[in-house]
Amino acid sequence: MESVSAATSKKELLDQKNAEADLGGGEKRIQAQHDKGKLTARERIAVLLDEGSFEEIGKFVMHRSKDFGLDKEHYLGDGVVTGYGKMNGRLIYIFAQDFTVFGGSLSETHAEKICKIMDLAMKNGAPLIGLNDSGGARIQEGVLSLAGYADIFYKNTLASGVIPQISAVMGPCAGGAVYSPAITDFILMVENTSYMFVTGPNVVKTVTHEEVTSEELGGAMTHATKSGVTHFVSPNEVECLLAIKKLLSYVPQNCENDAPRYPYTIGNELRPALNTIIPDSANQPYDMRDVISELTDTDSFFEVHEHFADNIVVGFARIAGRSIGIVANQPAVLAGVLDIHASQKAARFVRFCDCFNIPLLVLEDVPGFLPGTDQEWNAIITNGAKLLYAFCEATVPRITVITRKAYGGAYDVMNSKHIGADMNFAWPSAEIAVMGASGAAEIIFKREIAQAENPKEKLQEKIEDYTEKFTNPYRAAHRGYIDEVIYPEQTREKLIRAFEMLENKVDVLPRKKHGNIPL
Ligand code: HXC
Repeated sequence: MESVSAATSKKELLDQKNAEADLGGGEKRIQAQHDKGKLTARERIAVLLDEGSFEEIGKFVMHRSKDFGLDKEHYLGDGVVTGYGKMNGRLIYIFAQDFTVFGGSLSETHAEKICKIMDLAMKNGAPLIGLNDSGGARIQEGVLSLAGYADIFYKNTLASGVIPQISAVMGPCAGGAVYSPAITDFILMVENTSYMFVTGPNVVKTVTHEEVTSEELGGAMTHATKSGVTHFVSPNEVECLLAIKKLLSYVPQNCENDAPRYPYTIGNELRPALNTIIPDSANQPYDMRDVISELTDTDSFFEVHEHFADNIVVGFARIAGRSIGIVANQPAVLAGVLDIHASQKAARFVRFCDCFNIPLLVLEDVPGFLPGTDQEWNAIITNGAKLLYAFCEATVPRITVITRKAYGGAYDVMNSKHIGADMNFAWPSAEIAVMGASGAAEIIFKREIAQAENPKEKLQEKIEDYTEKFTNPYRAAHRGYIDEVIYPEQTREKLIRAFEMLENKVDVLPRKKHGNIPL
């Protein structure tokens, strides 16, 4: 039998190793991390997970490198903390890169730890959260590190659409390292402390002679507003971690499950404020977010990609406790026109919702696609087709409400009945036509107007004629393209009932290897 003192010393060894691992790269580097306004990997996990729920895996893993002095420098855990735990009571898998150890750089063993967690997340059907804070490939390890990245990219891709994958970038993320977050479902960044780029400012200066700071090139607001690479921006790390928590509250554990349902008791669901939300003039803007907040459960709207392509609004919400995804034209910005960025933004969101059984609500007020050489030369055709394709292939419950304009190709694209929407509602203010009445009259009655004694009067007469025929929802309702023309105040009630009616919807796509979405 082991003596008491031997057992004590073995316990002490374990205590010592645990303490060593907990300290990462040491107190000085932890202080340096704090001085930058950043938390350590373990502190981040503590904010994110339910108290005491984190179980670490691979705490004592060490790298196997011998080159460039690495044989003399080892840190338990090798720069990444991995494991599983509970977030709001739900199982999640997590890795958090530890910048205090070799700058969070990715070695062969560091990658193996991440891959192990990814495999567990896939086998057990739970979300994967990655907290990225890394100098990229462990330079001393050369191709071993590149291989480790590739292993992660491959697993990210196989996991796509099976489990939700969330990436928070909470420090540097450069070179090929950016491609793991890019493949995952959502990226979150922190203002002033995180950045992502394929090549940093120094390389940019050498190659293109542009002088640019890291923040300008790949900071949070750059990617939120210009590239659309990041979906969320937070002012600090704690807010960023809380945003992950909130995001996952709308999302199921995996593609076979439904999102968590919140308790809700049906009451008076009429929303009279909606009756006066559409301005009298068809060209006057209004904020579609006001419509969203009337239709959804109190404070439940969680906007995605808030700072990018704000002519379309997308985000999660709840309606009578059910999680839904909303895609809404925004008449307050560029009259809600569809352009390249808006199409990309909405298509990606629709596909996420469809992967994870989140029903879709489309709020439509769209004058068409944005004209111009910039749009045509940058492929509005291909990009607009993305959104069309995304809706066409979506099998989740899909409901559209046309609040005002539904013009041209954009009518078809925005979840019309013809491309598989389940319920299509229109308000009495809906205008469903190929184009606005004056443009239409000018084109189809060009000769008649030119030959008229009073062309102005003739034009007006034709505009009125076209308006009467098409600038309303009734032609479409006569055909059954609109299931019901509803009073705005009834909309929330109608949606609650329709989403409930569609709850067990089953729709199957033709058998195929995979579709070929226009990329
Ligand atoms: C090994 C690294 C490292 C790396 C940083 N460190 N990056 N060690 N491999 N890639 C170490 C530093 O030596 C230092 O060690 C500690 O981490 C902190 O780094 P600092 O430079 O002191 O920190 P800071 O000033 O904040 O600068 C952070 C940084 C910088 C901007 C990330 O370290 C940097 O530029 N690193 C190199 C980035 C890079 O070129 N990576 C390869 C990219 S290519 P000590 O011991 O002093 O604490 C790539 C390809 C991926 O990643 C391909 C996938 C397909």
